[in-house]
Amino acid sequence: MTKVIAFDIYGTLIDTHGVVTRLKEYIGNEAQTFSNKWRDKQLEYSFRRGLMRSYQHFGICTSQALDYTNQLLQTNLSDEQKASLLAEYRILPAFDDVIESLTALKTAGHKMYGFSNGTADAVEGLLSNAGIRDLFDGVVSVDPMQTFKPNPDVYTHMVKTGGASVKDTWLVSSNPFDVIGAATVGMQTVWVQRSKSVVFDPWGVEPTTIVKSLIELPDELQNLGNSL
Ligand code: 2OP
Repeated sequence: MTKVIAFDIYGTLIDTHGVVTRLKEYIGNEAQTFSNKWRDKQLEYSFRRGLMRSYQHFGICTSQALDYTNQLLQTNLSDEQKASLLAEYRILPAFDDVIESLTALKTAGHKMYGFSNGTADAVEGLLSNAGIRDLFDGVVSVDPMQTFKPNPDVYTHMVKTGGASVKDTWLVSSNPFDVIGAATVGMQTVWVQRSKSVVFDPWGVEPTTIVKSLIELPDELQNLGNSL
């Protein structure tokens, strides 16, 4: 049976650590540490803004997290270097497994969406730059809801846009907080465990299934379709 599949963008289809090469030019060996801290802080800011009902779009969270990390690690990035890193963030690369997997899923007839904390404009740009925009039926951003994942309202908004029932709408994400958010409203979920060292939050809410790479996804969904 064909499904509605919502793909998380940052960290799932698009590699947020694509900035490391540029960071290495600027700060050398600290580049990976900087990138990890920047990403963690960006997400923390989105969670806090959601809780405080003090929404500013995700690009602001990214930019303020960059300033924070620059101060914390005392890396002395210039305004020009920060502007260039933020420009890079709009053209981050897709992971290597994306094109093959999503092409197979599209061919199987699934309805596919990019679903993100990012604005529609930012997500459209990333997908187009990666050459995969045509594989999607649409882009769903949290922006019209003026809050962030994992607020249940943003998952409900995704389900409504897809037009299927909640139990026939799937979230595919490498971010455990995102998987738990979607599962909590009743969506089916796939956790993409891109690295062995990533731990799934022990909240007693489990993904429907786990894959180690998107390459496993078309077969996994087909097998599950026969058993669900
Ligand atoms: C996204 O919504 C959670 O950053 C992730 O794209």
